[in-house]
Amino acid sequence: MLYLKDIDVSGKKVLIRVDYNVPLDGTRVTDDTRIRESLPTLRHILDAGGAAVICCHLGQPKGEVKPEFSLAPVAAHLAGLLGVSVPLAADCVGPDVKAKIAALKGGEVLMLENLRFHKAETSKDPAERMPFAKELVAGLDLYVSDAFGVSHRPNASVTEAPLAAPKACAGFLMQKEWEYLHGALENPKRPFVAVSGGSKVSSKLGILKNLLGKVDHLIIGGAMANTFRLAQGIDMGASLVERDLLDEARSIMEMAADNRTHIHLPVDFVLAREFKAAAAEVPSHTGAVPAGLMALDIGPKSVEAFAYVLKGAGTVVWNGPMGAFENPAFAAGSIGMAKAIVACGALSIVGGGDTDAVVHAAGLGDKFGFISTGGGSFLEFLEGKELPGFKALDEAAKK
Ligand code: 3PG
Repeated sequence: MLYLKDIDVSGKKVLIRVDYNVPLDGTRVTDDTRIRESLPTLRHILDAGGAAVICCHLGQPKGEVKPEFSLAPVAAHLAGLLGVSVPLAADCVGPDVKAKIAALKGGEVLMLENLRFHKAETSKDPAERMPFAKELVAGLDLYVSDAFGVSHRPNASVTEAPLAAPKACAGFLMQKEWEYLHGALENPKRPFVAVSGGSKVSSKLGILKNLLGKVDHLIIGGAMANTFRLAQGIDMGASLVERDLLDEARSIMEMAADNRTHIHLPVDFVLAREFKAAAAEVPSHTGAVPAGLMALDIGPKSVEAFAYVLKGAGTVVWNGPMGAFENPAFAAGSIGMAKAIVACGALSIVGGGDTDAVVHAAGLGDKFGFISTGGGSFLEFLEGKELPGFKALDEAAKK
């Protein structure tokens, strides 16, 4: 694919696909990480004398114009960060938008309204998506993608627009995501350790299987570990387990042995009777979990054991919390892991909504090597899937 750093954008009108699908509290942006991460691309284009036309989706309005999904609060927030005016067009295509684009001068910004107000954006049929993509890029000289967060979606603005535009390239954010994630998976500094948590083995099966043979150590925490423990014959009491995946968990452990990946499971758990408990009933329990009690976090001995595995690591990729960390009573395992990963000094890469929330809750946001802006896209990357957004940029470069 081509990179923005290699393209002269002075005097060009540039369509920038970003992922500003950010949480809102009414009309206030509550987490602007994705917006901030796109600023280097926007500033580069504006400083070089280009005009920036920003397009994006917000939520899932499913092809209907719904005011609650308007990008107005996002445009206002971006204007504050960029320090320039960010007018919002009432639509993303159509004659009014074209007139506004025609009138744009170098250094100016125009934000287009939610792409998903149009059904064609998310249509499953590429033949429906292409005409919409062509309309979107009409009158523009260059397409830049900084939308890593949505690069796993075959949406018109992600997969067809790069091909419809005169030229297409990856912006700085997209380039950074590619270099860190691709670099870690294809050419990691070893030992390479993956830390995988979260509640369900079912949603992480693809990742676990793809990482076997690639990573030297696979640390499994979160409720996922309960299923693995039960698969080893340890009763997990009332803990969340996926009984239908016990064979799958066993086969992952066997495949790991064949692939020389060492799997590490928690050795102790924090137990309570319910998710909402104000405090742990047993702060560190080893062995079978008594009836009526649930494992809601990894215990301190596990954190210590995992920190030992992490010592000397060259690369660490982390996705998924170690326990029900939304409840402070069960957050210590996740926060302990965040600290252990930072302390081991490896290149650390974190992704997925909940995991970056843990990192920020631990106050360690600036201590990690790279925090991906992707949720689903980060997971699919770890699954080894080719993301349609990158594929399209690749194809566009060959045009
Ligand atoms: C995200 O927030 O993960 C992306 O913007 C994709 O959003 P979607 O799941 O609604 O397609």
